[in-house]
Amino acid sequence: MRTPFVAGNWKMNKTGEEARLLVSELLPALQPITTVERAICPPFPYLLPLANMLKGSGIGLGAQNMHWEASGAFTGEVAPAMVAEFCQYVILGHSERRAYFHETDEMVNKKVKAALAIGLTPIMCVGETLSENEAGLTAEVVTRQTRLGLAGISAEEVSRVVIAYEPVWAIGTGKAATAQQAQDVHARIIRPVLREMFGETAAQAMRIQYGGSVNSKNAAELFAMPDIDGALVGGASLKAPEFIAIVQAAAEAKK
Ligand code: PGA
Repeated sequence: MRTPFVAGNWKMNKTGEEARLLVSELLPALQPITTVERAICPPFPYLLPLANMLKGSGIGLGAQNMHWEASGAFTGEVAPAMVAEFCQYVILGHSERRAYFHETDEMVNKKVKAALAIGLTPIMCVGETLSENEAGLTAEVVTRQTRLGLAGISAEEVSRVVIAYEPVWAIGTGKAATAQQAQDVHARIIRPVLREMFGETAAQAMRIQYGGSVNSKNAAELFAMPDIDGALVGGASLKAPEFIAIVQAAAEAKK
């Protein structure tokens, strides 16, 4: 049995004050839901204050990106050890990073390796665009991103990696993949690639989240699917009642 994992990707949202308010609303509701691994991924400047608020709560903290180098002349970048000082998780290869900041599968692979080396749990995002989907390229794109992103990692290390399947056409559009569509990609594309690369044990142990317009209304149906092991939640993670309801849905569906 894989522990369901729900993470909130706040993206570039919230003032410092709003961030603290949101966490103060999440804390009492999320703390008791111990059957679900739950985490929030706020912008970099809020990691320290929110880490202090979350201390001892069982609610994890993640960054939304990082560089792969340990230190050096990389103006504007943040190193793995800097993230690991405050966080347990790091989102890597999000489609917005790939599209707007030209991250390649090779860069994502370096970041995943650096995250594992420093003890962070990488949440590696994969997913096809609308045009790739319409051209029937979903399997090809998701297979390539998974293969290249996880290249050169051992089966032992990889079991700590979380994959987030996020079809780009579903992100921020209000048009989530259906539970069956997501289940099919998880079970027929991603998990078989993991099995081929790392063997049955590692493939079965790894969590595959779904992401893309997950909300309190569609969460239960998504989590009812056997290969949907949680969610990476964007817009709905910015509202306490929505995010709490999604974590509750995961607890309910996976008990
Ligand atoms: P969304 O974003 O839930 O707002 O669609 C998900 C994501 O980009 O991680």
